[in-house]
Amino acid sequence: MVSSSNHTSSSSELSLREIPGDYGLPFFGPIKDRYDYFYNQGKDDFFKSRIKKYNSTVFRTNMPPGPFISSNPQVIAVLDSKSFTVLFDNSKVEKKDILDGTYMPSLSFFGGYRVCAFLDTEEHDHRVLKSFFLSFLANSHKKFVPYLRTGLSELFDNLEKEIADGKSADFNKNSDNMAFEFMFRLVTGVDPTETKLKSKGPSTVDTWLALQLAPLGTSGIKFIPNFIDDIIHTFRLPFFLIKSGYKKLYKAVYDSATSLLDEAEKSGIKREEACHNLVFLAAFNAFGGMKVLFPSLIKWIGSGGESLHRRLAAEIRSVVKEEGDVTFSALEKMTLTKSAVYEALRIDPPVPFQYATAREDLVVESHDGAFQIKKGETIFGYQPLATKDPKVFQNPEEFVADRFVGDGEKLLQYVYWSNARETDSPSGDNKQCPAKDLVVLCSRLMLVELFLRYDTFTADVGQVALGASVKITSLSKTA
Ligand code: HEM
Repeated sequence: MVSSSNHTSSSSELSLREIPGDYGLPFFGPIKDRYDYFYNQGKDDFFKSRIKKYNSTVFRTNMPPGPFISSNPQVIAVLDSKSFTVLFDNSKVEKKDILDGTYMPSLSFFGGYRVCAFLDTEEHDHRVLKSFFLSFLANSHKKFVPYLRTGLSELFDNLEKEIADGKSADFNKNSDNMAFEFMFRLVTGVDPTETKLKSKGPSTVDTWLALQLAPLGTSGIKFIPNFIDDIIHTFRLPFFLIKSGYKKLYKAVYDSATSLLDEAEKSGIKREEACHNLVFLAAFNAFGGMKVLFPSLIKWIGSGGESLHRRLAAEIRSVVKEEGDVTFSALEKMTLTKSAVYEALRIDPPVPFQYATAREDLVVESHDGAFQIKKGETIFGYQPLATKDPKVFQNPEEFVADRFVGDGEKLLQYVYWSNARETDSPSGDNKQCPAKDLVVLCSRLMLVELFLRYDTFTADVGQVALGASVKITSLSKTA
């Protein structure tokens, strides 16, 4: 186990080592790495094989998409729990226009504005927008539990109906609908189906997300040859394909979120800019994150089988009985439920990639070496390897539901899903997800609702572009 020492240290005893790896020939090097990453090796093997080859968790490589989308795909990868934290040190790294990595989607996707997630901490607007979001979330606090419980209750009713119709139930589709409705109601105060969006919100956002993020994935269709599939990494997909859908989404938020937009204007943010920021927050940050997290959570809880389900149900039911209701203090007492959620966030962080640019020459330390990074170089972290670092976590590839119970809580500082340590707090001065606590709350509530209703469940798990696809095959009702 390691101590909680920083990634950088002036009194380091580790000797400086040249960063291994190279970028290959211009143009051909990035394309070779892209083929290895998507087709020849796959993400995990791409990184693991290079860690082995260079005997180092810090090395140079190209990251997709490369030509012709990114002008400079060269990065320094940091792939262990220690070096990864350089990405959180905003005094040393810049986070400007780097949310999606080595390319930036067209600003048309965001109404022509650089929305908060693309701003660096040294930009004045970052602090203004982030503070606005943090106060919106703090003021919405009382709505979280009732809104979520209503949404979750509908979600499980729908799953039951689909199973009763003799099929397996599509968890992803129902979870997406719930996540969209929850965030839209939180931001605007109204149900999205009562606006002109009707029930088209989630599919509109799916297309908007896919057009922006296509260069980072594959079509996933087996019979398409690699060189055809690779076209999506070569040219940007145009905004006009979703222009009218985005307009509808924007208008639905603009017309309904009047009081929140008034607040934004009082903080000095232009009404239109605030609205495009709220669309991004609800659609990309929130919906995009939940779209990946909730199926992953159910996948891992499903993998624990009946014995884990029995333990979770016993804890949840006894605490709710004791407290009389599902309250914030009741949720705090559910130690196994809390730990199981953190473990899902550790083993499968929903946003696996983080990027930053060195503000100055700096030294980054892995467990066994120190490396000099030059000002302006791009640093890249693949989080699933950092949070499965065998020097920090025992049996890192195993889902251990009670890993963070009791003394295990000390390990929470090595859980990074929110773009910072789980023990840190989001602020206007950092780039940590402002909804860190809300996301953990949603996940706990999902398990609470699940195990208040059912003793156990079974699921078939597959893979979709952004993560797990889950079909619920049975739900055993509580007697
Ligand atoms: C499962 C759900 C979520 C996950 C996994 C998630 C994850 C993240 C991550 C990893 C980042 C940092 C991205 C980077 O700079 O590399 C981030 C930033 C952000 N998230 Fe979340 N998030 C989720 C839900 C939400 C929700 C519900 C909201 C709003 C209500 C939200 C608002 C934001 C905002 C505004 C930022 C940008 C912060 C900044 O620029 O300082 N997120 N989120």
